[in-house]
Amino acid sequence: MNTVLKKNVTVLNHPVINHNLAIIRNKKTDTQNFKQALKTISYALIYEASKNIPTKTIEVETPLMKTDCEVFDDNSQLIIAPILRAGLGFCETASEILPFANIHHIGMYRNEETLEPVWYYDKDKKILEDKSRVYTIILDPMLATGNSALDAVKNFINKGVREENIVFMSLISSPEGIEKLSNAYPAIRIVTASLDKGLNSKGYILPGLGDAGDRIFNTIPE
Ligand code: URA
Repeated sequence: MNTVLKKNVTVLNHPVINHNLAIIRNKKTDTQNFKQALKTISYALIYEASKNIPTKTIEVETPLMKTDCEVFDDNSQLIIAPILRAGLGFCETASEILPFANIHHIGMYRNEETLEPVWYYDKDKKILEDKSRVYTIILDPMLATGNSALDAVKNFINKGVREENIVFMSLISSPEGIEKLSNAYPAIRIVTASLDKGLNSKGYILPGLGDAGDRIFNTIPE
């Protein structure tokens, strides 16, 4: 069962998700098991995040008869936007489930003093003239301070994507990040697997999982 926290914020709540979150949070979990648990949760998050992408009805012939089936509408454009580097942890699964999507890499790192995002990459594909048909799912496992999330959403709004067609998908979110993002952009959807307690003074989520990029890519400092 999912919990709708406030309008447009969905926190997945399911024993499979919770079991895998426990694996992910545990500092003793190695990279292989971390990535496996992340993949398992990613499926559920991506199904939820993609549920508003337009569909159309087509006729399909089974071995027995003709029938109407619902498929994604190829007149729409779907952009999947992983924020480097931790967003890559979701990207393979998202692209596997939604192979027709354009993958738009966003390069941003956090200035550890100001906690503000610093851009270094924005690899887009031309978006459709008719912006009402453009849908974007932004991927970042950690919605912490909300600063990079805000910048990433603003980037798509500036390109003409409609706020209501944007989904921000995270594994773990802080109340501060959700507040900041949904106050600035009330029409976007936020889909997450956990709402944690808050942030520490360095902007890390508590209890969280530590540094998501380091855990995914096995670069945890000694
Ligand atoms: N980024 C991370 O990887 N972890 C946090 O807790 C916050 C931001």
